[in-house]
Amino acid sequence: MNMKWKTGSPETHETGVLVLPCFEGGDGLVGSAARMDGHLLGLLSRVVKDSEFSGKKDELVVCGGIHEGVRARRVVLLGLGSRKGMHPESLRRGMSRIAVEFEKTSTSVTLCVDDLPAGKSNAEALGQAAMEGLMLTLYRFERFTKAGEGKLDSLVLLGSRRTHAAAFRRGIKIGAAVSGGVCSARDLANLPGNHGTPAVLAREARAIGRAAGMKVQSIGPAKMKKMNMGSLLSVSLGSPVEPRLIVMEYGEADRERPTVCLVGKGLTFDSGGISIKPSADMDKMRYDKSGGSVVIGAMKAIAELRLPVHVVGIVPASENMPGGNANKPGDIVTASNGKTIQILNTDAEGRLILADALVHAQSYNPDVIIDLATLTGACVVALGKHCAGLMTRSRCLSDRLTKAGDAAFERVWPLPLWDEYIKEMDGDVSDLKNLGGRYGGAMTAGGFLSNFVGDHDWAHLDIAGVSWDDADRPYNKGKGATGFGVRLLVQYLRGLS
Ligand code: BES
Ligand code: MN
Ligand code: ZN
Repeated sequence: MNMKWKTGSPETHETGVLVLPCFEGGDGLVGSAARMDGHLLGLLSRVVKDSEFSGKKDELVVCGGIHEGVRARRVVLLGLGSRKGMHPESLRRGMSRIAVEFEKTSTSVTLCVDDLPAGKSNAEALGQAAMEGLMLTLYRFERFTKAGEGKLDSLVLLGSRRTHAAAFRRGIKIGAAVSGGVCSARDLANLPGNHGTPAVLAREARAIGRAAGMKVQSIGPAKMKKMNMGSLLSVSLGSPVEPRLIVMEYGEADRERPTVCLVGKGLTFDSGGISIKPSADMDKMRYDKSGGSVVIGAMKAIAELRLPVHVVGIVPASENMPGGNANKPGDIVTASNGKTIQILNTDAEGRLILADALVHAQSYNPDVIIDLATLTGACVVALGKHCAGLMTRSRCLSDRLTKAGDAAFERVWPLPLWDEYIKEMDGDVSDLKNLGGRYGGAMTAGGFLSNFVGDHDWAHLDIAGVSWDDADRPYNKGKGATGFGVRLLVQYLRGLS
């Protein structure tokens, strides 16, 4: 996607689609829309009247065939709701509508920013949201089909004054980097099990990492054995496909900069193993690698933005299959911190592969560990599909992630991590078991993980409900994997410096 800032006025700007933001309340057109209306001899106000356009969110009217005095082929009024307190999400969704409307017919879109509520602080956020709205909406998973006929590939932000030009410019750059990360995450998470194996995930991580000058390791089963990762290894036993532990390192340990470990569940296909899942919808368990995909996508964005942090991305990648060597209910395995785990349900495998990955994260002496995992159906039952479950005992981390999630509009909501939940995972004939009681499955899963993070500041994000869309959603038109978490993580990490 091409992008640029331009100082100029909408009357004389040449473009395919000129977008004029409009807001609810007040009567008639104001600001640049009103000026443009004057220029067009009242055409816009007539269209507004005929279509009962009121500036509500997601409303859109298109005026084509306009007269010679204007250099835009089409002028679009885009409703963004109330101007006061407008969240950048309104613009992200608005630009998403624009992308849907014009992706096949126009090459360039110009957004007139003069009337946006762009104070010094949020011009950047608005530029970012505009870019993301377009890029995320244009994403399709096209690995196994012909490419679509989309033409739209450039965004211009047009302002008559240079006031916030620098901030808007920064914003579109950030938006492009973040969207690139989200699209990579979607691509990986969407891969079917036969194509998106642990080795393929590792290869993609290496390609992304190499391009960005990161150190990337891909640890196979032999080395895992040496590292005593009996928990991670056990999950891969039911499949002929080898597991990988992928480690991407951006920046280096430095007293001035925080070290953050991002750990993502990379379960490339979850059949449930011997505790096999029902066949309906089992195909979707290819997105059980969403956490890992999001970590890889976020690493890409972080590097592109050159964030002043030291980040280690760790992705345990494995299949969970019911082969002859598979884990059996009742089996006991030993994780790399020496804890023994009795496997009572082989479908609770995410926590098993994360256990060793979290122990490995501790070796980087991180200030913060954040894991993302499509871990439990229980979390989807509890919170639905509009936020991730956040489990942490760090007040500071909880506040920061919540704030970052609200700003990026990838929201998280707290679930408790009390001792009672943690205790529930104590084993009878082993230190731990991988299955809790009937209730509170999201929290007992989080409680299990808490045994592998030492006393590091740590947050667990259960993204089972937010990683996949079955229906069209704003800015996920291809359906499928959402890439949820990339925007959140980048926002959080930007807030650290
Ligand atoms: N990958 C699943 C969780 C999941 C469910 C993700 C639905 C996305 C949508 C996980 O490995 C799993 O199977 N969890 C079990 C745990 C149970 C056996 C304790 C679950 O949630 O049913
Ligand atoms: Mn499972
Ligand atoms: Zn799983």
